Amino acid sequence: MHKILVTGGAGYIGSHTIVDLLEKGFEVVSIDNHINSFPASIDAVQDFTGKKVHHYEVDLCDMNATEKVFQSHSDIVGIIHFAALKAVGESVEQPMLYFNNNIKSQLNVLHCAYKYNVKAFIFSSSCTVYGTAEELPVSETTPMQEAESPYGRTKQIGEKILKDSHQSGNLNIVSLRYFNPAGAHISGKLGESPKVVAMNLVPVITETARGKRQKCFVYGDDYNTRDGSCIRDYVHVMDLADAHEKALSHVLEGKNESKYEIFNLGIGKGVSVLEAIKAFERTSGIKLNYEIGPRRLGDIVAIYADSSKAHKLLNWRPQYNIEDIMSTAWKWEIERTY
Ligand code: NAD
Ligand code: WQD
Repeated sequence: MHKILVTGGAGYIGSHTIVDLLEKGFEVVSIDNHINSFPASIDAVQDFTGKKVHHYEVDLCDMNATEKVFQSHSDIVGIIHFAALKAVGESVEQPMLYFNNNIKSQLNVLHCAYKYNVKAFIFSSSCTVYGTAEELPVSETTPMQEAESPYGRTKQIGEKILKDSHQSGNLNIVSLRYFNPAGAHISGKLGESPKVVAMNLVPVITETARGKRQKCFVYGDDYNTRDGSCIRDYVHVMDLADAHEKALSHVLEGKNESKYEIFNLGIGKGVSVLEAIKAFERTSGIKLNYEIGPRRLGDIVAIYADSSKAHKLLNWRPQYNIEDIMSTAWKWEIERTY
């Protein structure tokens, strides 16, 4: 049984990925300092999988505490590094917080990966590295533009650190560039539960429908798109979880063509804000209280992925569409306990 370290394991994508790993027979060690998550997510994962997670409350910026986990689990063969701060607006207000947390934690984990002879390192990157891309759909070879926020810069720098260090040891590295992760586990027992106020479209929609917010604002309907609202590529969190397991197995089975690889993870289909709202209304049967508001500063008009590389090399086939995203996110919103 392969032992995998998941950093940021109590977070949104991390907790869903742990479920997938446990169900596929991996043993999981998790590290999280709960700056944006609750230990309850790990309890939920253990409850409904019936499997144990070796979970440690550790700040990855603390090198000694991080290394202690590696000393207790010297048989870790792979790392999925999710831990990071991710609020774009907050990163503009507090850039040093983002550079310190995201870069320092990555360096510490990477240092341990080399020192403890780990074979695979999967990095959470983001479509944000592309900035305003010049071509659509965006493929892995589309040139990166200037980062639009310090958060985006931490992902560009994070990738560069991995690219520049991969020749030096036995580590095989994969950067996964997610587009817009959304949705929740089908059970309704696991979903997105951040400590900061949710700003992403899907939780804003479900929280509005639940009455936690008065109204959902559509940020602009005067863009040059089919209905005037912005277009994104919403990818279900369980499809992402599956992609992480596939990337990990790809490397552990020695199928990687190079020691540093990059994959886009999106459905490849652009969905507008108004189409997303309609999908929510269709699946929930609820009429959403929304209003067209002004454009949001810094928003990209349209972006969606060419994920054919992940289809071909990882054999990754996303199973869920925007309706599934909305129905699982809504089930979570109604049934959530934390
Ligand atoms: P999340 O905030 O739910 O999870 C991140 C977890 O990392 C949290 O539980 C947080 O407490 C933990 N963490 C942060 N700093 C830490 C530190 N120094 N030490 C230990 N734990 C720490 O976010 P998520 O949505 O699950 O995102 C996971 C990763 O995917 C992040 O790297 C994020 O940048 C990236 N990503 C997310 C999205 C998205 O929209 N959700 C899109 C693209 C990329
Ligand atoms: C989606 C669309 C909004 C809220 C962010 C990060 C990106 C990546 C994914 C981490 C946009 C519109 C939203 C609302 C709205 N994260 N919207 N009303 O901005 O595409 O991407 O998450 O790496 O880096 O920037 O996601 O969910 O905020 O917005 O109309 O209340 O929904 O304008 O068109 P975004 P989002």
